[in-house]
Amino acid sequence: MLEDVVLQIQNCRKCRLWQTSIYGVPGEGPVDARVMFVGQNPGSEEDKTGRPFVGRAGKFLTKTLAEFGINRERVYITNIVKHTSPENRKPFPDEVVACLPYLAQQIAVINPKIVVLLGASAKEAPRVEGVRYFEVVHPSAAMRFTKMREKFRIQIAELAEQIK
Ligand code: URA
Repeated sequence: MLEDVVLQIQNCRKCRLWQTSIYGVPGEGPVDARVMFVGQNPGSEEDKTGRPFVGRAGKFLTKTLAEFGINRERVYITNIVKHTSPENRKPFPDEVVACLPYLAQQIAVINPKIVVLLGASAKEAPRVEGVRYFEVVHPSAAMRFTKMREKFRIQIAELAEQIK
């Protein structure tokens, strides 16, 4: 059950990151979502709210998806690592290893057709047979660099085409 995974994440003590965060951020979206987005780990806005991708990068992602006809409320959005990290550093390998079983459970329960990997860290996501994986630029890079933004928009356009 998705609720079980959510509770486990909210109470997780498997690595050090819970000590420096407010909330575990399990993810959000419908349990029957056909598309799942996976980012790196929550930032400070996400930590304050317990919700994924609600800060600047999240708003940018939500807006770009909408421009290509993808409604954020119809997809599931989560991260490789479910807690924020000090100064937003990249999660350490042992933190990723500790957290990955949650993502594996989420993929198993939601059973999406496509998993969209946002940025390089998301490539650590467990690969499941029958699920398509779609790599895109991370929205924070797309927000900052024109070339990355152009690439991101092309990728999201292609994703929209694939899920039509
Ligand atoms: N960046 C991520 O990778 N994940 C979030 O939830 C927010 C920003």
